[in-house]
Amino acid sequence: MNEEQRKEMNAVLDSSVEKKSTKDFSKYFESTYTPPSLKDAKKRGKSDVNFEYDFDIPADMKTIGVGKKFLIRTYGCQMNEHDTEVMSGIFMAMGYEATVDTKEADVILLNTCAIRENAENKVFGEIGHLKPLKLENPDLIIGICGCMSQEESVVNRILEKHHFIDMIFGTHNIHRLPNILKDAMFNKEMVVEVWSKEGDIIENLPKVRKGSIKGWVNIMYGCDKFCTYCIVPYTRGKERSRRPEDIIEEVRHLARNGYKEITLLGQNVNAYGKDLKDMNYGLGDLMDEIRKIDIPRVRFTTSHPRDFDDRLVEVLGKGGNLVEHIHLPVQSGSSEVLKLMARKYSREHYLELVRKIKDAVPNAALTTDIIVGFPNETEEQFEETMSLVREVGYEGCYTFIYSPREGTPAAKMEDNVPMEVKKERLQRLNALVNEQAANAMKKYAGQIVEVLVEGESKNNPDVLAGYTRTSKLVNFKAPKSAIGKLVKVKITDVRTWSLNGEMIEETAEVTM
Ligand code: 5AD
Ligand code: SF4
Repeated sequence: MNEEQRKEMNAVLDSSVEKKSTKDFSKYFESTYTPPSLKDAKKRGKSDVNFEYDFDIPADMKTIGVGKKFLIRTYGCQMNEHDTEVMSGIFMAMGYEATVDTKEADVILLNTCAIRENAENKVFGEIGHLKPLKLENPDLIIGICGCMSQEESVVNRILEKHHFIDMIFGTHNIHRLPNILKDAMFNKEMVVEVWSKEGDIIENLPKVRKGSIKGWVNIMYGCDKFCTYCIVPYTRGKERSRRPEDIIEEVRHLARNGYKEITLLGQNVNAYGKDLKDMNYGLGDLMDEIRKIDIPRVRFTTSHPRDFDDRLVEVLGKGGNLVEHIHLPVQSGSSEVLKLMARKYSREHYLELVRKIKDAVPNAALTTDIIVGFPNETEEQFEETMSLVREVGYEGCYTFIYSPREGTPAAKMEDNVPMEVKKERLQRLNALVNEQAANAMKKYAGQIVEVLVEGESKNNPDVLAGYTRTSKLVNFKAPKSAIGKLVKVKITDVRTWSLNGEMIEETAEVTM
């Protein structure tokens, strides 16, 4: 699009700002416009996933960033955090340096989250804050990527109201960042490239990891569960598993480089391997192999109870580097609500799974996600959630008010639980969850725990902070040389959300 066309488009847009736009903007963007479509994203084709091993930066972009800086602001889940590590790797492969100062940046990316409306509102707030920077420095490139870019309504809103954005690209287009950036820089067009259908698995993308102690490892992408409230299957595409040998090599590489903890990542990690046609291999098998790698701690997230099989429970029971913390989102304690959510398990099935896990992993710390105020949720059904929380005895819980997401089946149901009722239920649930979290902490009093030391405490640089295998935050005094190491700490003081302690001799036996 040239300057004339851009002016023409802005004029068209300005004259219809308040109207809900159903306009087709594609003619203004010619070849640089690939719009998203939630309807297309829903389709699950039978086509095989190709594995690509020869990613490279185009020759003319290899030094484009020399002397320039990039900044990525990340919203949402660990998958997004890890995508940011990949995009940082791509920027650095083009010669860019990282910065945290928006005034210094030559490129700013917002890696966005679409899971709930308030996540989206935060991003639109931030987009507003960036406008003055662009006015001050017209050469600044501003891009929007991540889950929100996969939604037509978001892309249309940016096209209508935020003309200063230079590029929008989706979760399947990350490897195209150099090409998209080039278009944005040299053509002075707003570049929109969002594939609704997922692409191949690209194996050798560069990564710059945040820190050198804990690392994320993707084991699969996408989700086929289609829980009725959830936008993820649309924004992240169909389930695609990485080959076990590629995952194991990445974990070995991290172990060789001194990493102490890895988290295996996927939207629904328990479906790992289902799409690998040439082998009968699941998450349990993968964990059983990773268990033998010399890395002290292995976690995985996020689990879906329906696909959590006996093989995985058995492997987790072997312990070792497989930690005793399992995040197992339940969403609701009522079988009827679970049915409306299309979670494909009942309260009884979930409780049976919890029993199996507790039998196999006696000290297991369980945490969960819960949504309150789903359409039609009655007081009795909410009370079933409360009783399930008591029965399982979660040590931590992420609680959310239901937020309708355009394009999902639940968004067509009447959102009929009044907001005051939703808020009141959330408060009651949080009170219970906090009480249980505080109780779970009490059992640590006087115990010796293993802590992976991550760095200085946020509130006091004289104190170090780290986490137990069960993900409890521990603060203690120790020399800075302990950072990055696994140390033993005797707990002296128990708080609601953290533990205080003293570092002790290497030879002491860990009691928890
Ligand atoms: N409204 C509220 N919470 C949601 N979650 C996912 N979609 C929605 C929604 N539409 C919650 C679920 C999920 C967590 C990551 O976010 O609890 O497990
Ligand atoms: Fe969303 Fe359900 Fe998939 Fe989790 S399993 S990402 S909640 S659709």
